Amino acid sequence: MFVHRLAVATAIATYLLILIGGLVHGTGSSLACPDWPTCYGSLMPKMEGGVLVEHSHRLAAGTVLVMTLLLAISLARSATPVQRRLRPYGWLAVGLVIIQAVLGGVTVLLRLPTPISTAHTATSVLFFLNLLYIAVRSRPASAVAPAPRPLPARATLLALFAAVAVYFQMVLGGLVRHSGAALACTDVPLCRGAVWPDAHPTVLIHVLHRLNALVVAALVTTSSVMTFRSARERPGLRALALAAPVLVAVQIWLGIRAVLTFLDLATVEAHLGVATALLATQIIIVLRGRAEAAPGAFRVRWLRDIASLAKPRVTGLVVLTYAGGLWMAPGALERWRTIMGVVGVALLVGASNAFNMLMERDVDPLMERTRDRALPQGLVSPEAALVFATALMCGALPLLFLGGNLLTGLLGLLALVSYVGVYTPMKRRSGAALFVGAVPGAIPPLMGWTTVTGRLDAPALALFAVLFLWQIPHFLAIAVYRAADYARAGIKVLPLALSAATTRAIIVVFSVALVGATVVLEPLRVAGRGYALAAILLGLTLVGWAIAGFRRAATRAWARSLFLFSIVYLVLLFAALVIDRTVA
Ligand code: HEM
Repeated sequence: MFVHRLAVATAIATYLLILIGGLVHGTGSSLACPDWPTCYGSLMPKMEGGVLVEHSHRLAAGTVLVMTLLLAISLARSATPVQRRLRPYGWLAVGLVIIQAVLGGVTVLLRLPTPISTAHTATSVLFFLNLLYIAVRSRPASAVAPAPRPLPARATLLALFAAVAVYFQMVLGGLVRHSGAALACTDVPLCRGAVWPDAHPTVLIHVLHRLNALVVAALVTTSSVMTFRSARERPGLRALALAAPVLVAVQIWLGIRAVLTFLDLATVEAHLGVATALLATQIIIVLRGRAEAAPGAFRVRWLRDIASLAKPRVTGLVVLTYAGGLWMAPGALERWRTIMGVVGVALLVGASNAFNMLMERDVDPLMERTRDRALPQGLVSPEAALVFATALMCGALPLLFLGGNLLTGLLGLLALVSYVGVYTPMKRRSGAALFVGAVPGAIPPLMGWTTVTGRLDAPALALFAVLFLWQIPHFLAIAVYRAADYARAGIKVLPLALSAATTRAIIVVFSVALVGATVVLEPLRVAGRGYALAAILLGLTLVGWAIAGFRRAATRAWARSLFLFSIVYLVLLFAALVIDRTVA
């Protein structure tokens, strides 16, 4: 019981430390002590004015550091097996508190650079979450009461999804605060009279924080309704499910008040306190709602396993198509925008892949192609996969909206939603899902184009058409030679629903349309004559290959060769484009 109580006390002390940290900024005391770790060269300076606030924060942080060390040692020496298995989390907490102290020191010494100050906020909340995890999981099981019935997996996964969204909203809030964007808009609910003003990215950080509050509110409320409904015999969980939407509503009201009162200290402080309480509520719902699984031992290989959910090679290829769009678009782009766009697309594609694997974890073990993935192999838990996917998504979208523009951000959102929300579930119901899945596949080059131009014009749409049309023969070819695999997993693909002749006819029609779309790039002045000639020759070969499917002897071997040729075709087509534009 001692270890559990110590963990609870350390979590509470950390909550208070976060509040004192908020006061440091709110009272403008961040640089009251110009040196670090001492203040004016002393461990105990004269406690008045800003020094009182800033040095109290340091003393509180020192106390939390000692408590965390004690907790880590107690976990390591605990006689209870569950507590001993929490050892890695104890040492993780020590690591995080040290990183946090160093970030705090660096931010003072470098005079509060925005990225470091925001990282300080982000790490403080992670550290708090880690302690909360230890506090909940270190509670000894009751000897008399039966273990409570866990919530359905869907309810805890949704609560976890909402929790990660709250976490990123807090990080975004930290960015608003530390980048000086808090009063970038003083009107509410619009910002400078618009939903998305044509303004500097600093203003847009503020706008994103406001708009995302609505997404967070919707997620928390939906999760609470589901938790409340499924936690019939668990009054504690039901109380938390009722508290969460109330906290969100209060939080939004405090945010609006912070703007309207020009950052009244009590309001801003309450905004930080309620945000942290809301996150704690969501996380406790997840931890108490799940079956009391003993924490698994941490393996370094796990990092590789979880990264594999993002399908790094596929992601790399998609980023290349985005870079292609960037490169082809007329006009120049600042380097920081290019970097933000490329990283944003990489994270977005990684998130889409990870969500897709999470949603297909039940059918993946049934297919030869997918049975070795990390989720069906049990190497990564669904919860970890969900946190990973959501974190990638939450990192990607601000980068695309801020580094690109509104149009690029919305296209990114459309790609994610159409892939994860429409295509992935539709795959089990209809072979026509292929045509939906081709939309997110074709959006990245379009995003590259719009990042530079900010417009959806004819060349951009032609580029989209090329990638969209190419995917149809490409994927139908895989579906033909993997049909048995898909049938086993219950995934509906067109070759299983249509006759062989119809499938082959679709392949030919889309190959012909593809050739048309590739040639159109020349009159649209995306590329010159040399490219057009190459596009026609490659296109004729592809169409010929597709027509060969009508031969009586055409079998799976033909489908496989068409699939492989479609890849070679795309590589050569883009090579022709690059050479043509470089020579011109
Ligand atoms: C679920 C909703 C929200 C959450 C979880 C949230 C969370 C946060 C957090 C954690 C901070 C950083 C505080 C700090 O570093 O001390 C912050 C800052 C801020 N938030 Fe929110 N927020 C939400 C909604 C809103 C809304 C709707 C508005 C305005 C309409 C708003 C306006 C602000 C402002 C102006 C700041 C900067 C305060 C300062 O500079 O001191 N927030 N938010």
